[in-house]
Amino acid sequence: MSKRLYIETVGCQMNMLDSEMVVASLRKKGYELTNDVLAADVVLFNTCSVRQHAEDKIYSALGRLRRHKEEHPETVVGVLGCMAQKDQAIIFERAPYVDLIVGPGQLQQTPELIEQARAGVQRQSALSLGRREAPLEQIKRSHETFDPLRDPTMRSSPYQAYVRIQIGCDKFCTYCIVPSVRGPEQGRPPADILAETRVLAEQGCVEIILVGQTVNSYRYVEGGKSTRLSELLHMLHDVEGIERLKFVTNYPNDMTDDLLHAVQDLPKCSPYFHVPLQSGSDRILQRMKRGYTVDDYRNMLRRIREIVPDAAVASDFIVGFCGETEEDFQQSVALVEECRFKNSFIFKYSERTGTKGAELFADDVPYDVKQRRNNELLAVQNKICIEEHQAFLGRTVEVLVEGPSKTAVKQAKADGPLSQMAGRTHCDRIVVFDGNLRQAGHILPVTIYDASSHTLFGSVVTEHRGPEQPLIELSIGSGGAQK
Ligand code: 5AD
Ligand code: SF4
Repeated sequence: MSKRLYIETVGCQMNMLDSEMVVASLRKKGYELTNDVLAADVVLFNTCSVRQHAEDKIYSALGRLRRHKEEHPETVVGVLGCMAQKDQAIIFERAPYVDLIVGPGQLQQTPELIEQARAGVQRQSALSLGRREAPLEQIKRSHETFDPLRDPTMRSSPYQAYVRIQIGCDKFCTYCIVPSVRGPEQGRPPADILAETRVLAEQGCVEIILVGQTVNSYRYVEGGKSTRLSELLHMLHDVEGIERLKFVTNYPNDMTDDLLHAVQDLPKCSPYFHVPLQSGSDRILQRMKRGYTVDDYRNMLRRIREIVPDAAVASDFIVGFCGETEEDFQQSVALVEECRFKNSFIFKYSERTGTKGAELFADDVPYDVKQRRNNELLAVQNKICIEEHQAFLGRTVEVLVEGPSKTAVKQAKADGPLSQMAGRTHCDRIVVFDGNLRQAGHILPVTIYDASSHTLFGSVVTEHRGPEQPLIELSIGSGGAQK
């Protein structure tokens, strides 16, 4: 039986990781990836529910498959992830030809369900329990992490890997669907995380990005012993071969001093914090039930800058949340100016059925106003990005080379001897430079000569090179201690 798999993923890092796991488990069953949806035997969509736009994309993709599925009923079509968990009935109604629906807490069942579907079983689903459907422990058990031992062939880069340390979320921000679809917050056992990191290091991985919805709230309790993220970082720091450690995404209230000290004291930890503020207005933050005021956030930022002086801080903002006035919005603008974030992800509020926000407040900011506020906030942030980047001109930074730059890939020059390469500084800034594919996975000194709002442009430091000597390539280990 032919085993060609097509998978499309939308959403956050958690979804990228989930897709990686699903692909790995199917590869073990003999499946090969294909980029051609029409040539695939199994078509999977790993979906996101955070905003309507992400859901619309999937419904359009499913719509485009309708004819093909009629003509090739043997092609298996599956919807995985958050949308599957949230809207099983709607998906089957809008796309009755979908064969399987699998929630994010049940992904381990995907290979088995595909096998059944190929044997003719129709409309299967595997979902976790809803937040009110059972006692807490039972709900928790129904949301399983899917983290089998890692297979390097399935990662987009052999040098970097996400490692899940937490699933679910208990914060219940009023706009957010995540606590309903990904279930209660649960930390993974530190021993499992350490074992997985060691395997990744043995496979040649240099950078580990720990992921969780509120990653700095991480806590694992067993036999009376509690482990926090700071302690986990200390454990992982000792893993030989790993040169950089990052963690995303943080919750402002849980940014404790022990964590900040761990980042400052451990040279492999990136001085980079993604801590979403969401709004610069206390009134809106309260409506969002974020649990902090703008002043609380300011204090947290002050502690970050005191303890980790070189830290780069990134944020998320939602514009046009229910009841947001022009004055509220201008407070967000003022906070972006004041905090000077490395970057901000800006989103237009999208009402999600099933959230407190949808229940309690009217989605009353017109779409064109949301769009205008989005553009305005982005323009302010971009101006700051450029200003901050100017400070890098002439400086030499340590860049972990990830691979060919997006432009190089587009121009299909990637296989040439000289190519434009891209990587990141320790504080997560993107750097593009002329180089070659052999540099991927290495940490190189790059001197910056130009900058745009999102990218630094530089050249690899080669000043000690004689004409006959090769381009210096620092060994991976030599650059990790510098931030
Ligand atoms: N509408 C718009 N943006 C949202 N986010 C979460 N829920 C919504 C929503 N309903 C944004 C938040 C969060 C990021 C991942 O997505 O800014 O930090
Ligand atoms: Fe959603 Fe808030 Fe949890 Fe983040 S902290 S996943 S925004 S509920």
